Amino acid sequence: MRLFVALSLPDDLRDSLSGLACGLPGARWVAPENLHLTLRFIGEVDGDEAEDIDAALSGIRCRRFALTLAGVGDFGDDRRLRSVWVGVEPNEMLERLQSKVEQAVRRAGQPPEKRKFKPHVTLARFKSHPGGRLEDYFTQRSLFRAPPFEVAAFTLYSSFLSHEGAIYSPEAVYSLD
Ligand code: 2AM
Repeated sequence: MRLFVALSLPDDLRDSLSGLACGLPGARWVAPENLHLTLRFIGEVDGDEAEDIDAALSGIRCRRFALTLAGVGDFGDDRRLRSVWVGVEPNEMLERLQSKVEQAVRRAGQPPEKRKFKPHVTLARFKSHPGGRLEDYFTQRSLFRAPPFEVAAFTLYSSFLSHEGAIYSPEAVYSLD
C-alpha cells in the first residue's frame, strides 16, 4: 500500500479553501474531502513495514498546537507548473511534529526524506499552464489567511490511485497531548 502521514483539516477550513478553487484554466482542483497537509510522504510499503510505521508513529509525544493557513504559492517552473497551494504561517510546533514523524518513519526502517519540509496544502495540480491567469490568481489571493485551527492529531493515510484520481483513507489517527 501507498502511505503518507498528514494533518487532516476541519470541515469549515476545507470549505473556506474550496472557495479558492476557481479562476485557473487547466487546474485539476483537489476535492474538498481530500485537502490535507502532508507531514511525510512514505510511498509503497508492505504489510509488515506498515505495522512498523504505525508502531513508531504511535510512540510520538507532542503537545497540541494552533496552526494558521495563509498565503498561496506554486511548485514548478516556467515550463511546467505542477501545483498551486496554500501555505502556513511559520510554526515551530509544526516543525517539531514533522521532525518527530520523520525520525519515527526512519526508525521504522524507511529511507530518509532528503527534500526540505515545505508545509503546504495542495489546491490544484495542472496538466497545462494557465499562463497570465496565474499571476492574476496570486495577486487576488495573496492576502488569503484562514482563522487558526487546533492541531489535535495527525493521521496515517493510504492512497489508492484510481482513474478518477487519488482516494485517501485514514488508516490510523494519533492524538496529540
Ligand atoms: P503534494 O500535495 O505536494 O502533491 C499524497 O500523495 C501526499 O503526499 C500529497 O500531499 C503529496 O504532496 C505528498 N507527496 C510528497 N512526495 C510525493 C511523491 N513523491 N509522490 C506522491 N506524493 C507525494
